[in-house]
Amino acid sequence: MHAPCKSIVVKLGGSLITEKDKPYTIAWDRLSRAARIIGTYYRRYAEEGLRLVVVHGGGSYGHYAVHEARQKVVIDQLDVARIQLVMNELAIKVARSLIEEKVPVTIIPGHALCPKRKGRCNLSLLIENVVRGMVPLTYGDGIYNEGVVIISGDDLAILAASAINADCLVFVSNVPGVLDEDGVVIPHVSSPNQVPDLTGTSNRVDLTGGMKAKVEKALSFSRDYEDTRIFIVDLEGLEKLLRGERAGTLLSSPSD
Ligand code: IPE
Repeated sequence: MHAPCKSIVVKLGGSLITEKDKPYTIAWDRLSRAARIIGTYYRRYAEEGLRLVVVHGGGSYGHYAVHEARQKVVIDQLDVARIQLVMNELAIKVARSLIEEKVPVTIIPGHALCPKRKGRCNLSLLIENVVRGMVPLTYGDGIYNEGVVIISGDDLAILAASAINADCLVFVSNVPGVLDEDGVVIPHVSSPNQVPDLTGTSNRVDLTGGMKAKVEKALSFSRDYEDTRIFIVDLEGLEKLLRGERAGTLLSSPSD
């Protein structure tokens, strides 16, 4: 069987790989399972030239560190350095889990791709690594610009998908897709209005917008990149997708 996705960006949500309500706590069971699923796929298709980028979010590392910094009247460079440090600590744990699964991960901090500000990112470092057969691991991060600016992992995942011409962009969350008011997965979403306001997980320390923002960004990307299939899935859904089965929510703009 051919790879269901030959060029793929996987974004691991922060609330999937950390315990969102416990500061600086990794959800080891979910992180190991994610690494196992990605590792199995990588080992199966690497020789066919699979292109893979992994992105992760902040969860109870990044969001909590930003929340702590924002208790201060003025956020200075040292506060941003602390945010970058905890994100790097989380990335090292994600990288170690993937390397144990024989995925040749190279960590590229989000702040190294977007050093100036959001919307001014340069992904050539990421592309160069993909071309050489490495698997870039990047992550939502903070940069200093008269205070802290957050670069979300979702934005980086979308940028990475366009940079490597991905045929699949998969957001892995701890919910099985976009849920309707009754908690049932909506298999196909083509408008942010289909996302009920309460969909997703606890948003107490989520500073980057939750499910609706994710869907809005993904749909606006899909208008320009029709060949990229975008999914929101949980870990079970990721496993199914990578076996070539249908899972979670497919996001695509209505064709006009
Ligand atoms: C946030 O990244 C990064 C920081 C808070 C520094 P994301 O917005 O991608 O994180 P999650 O996936 O929602 O936790």
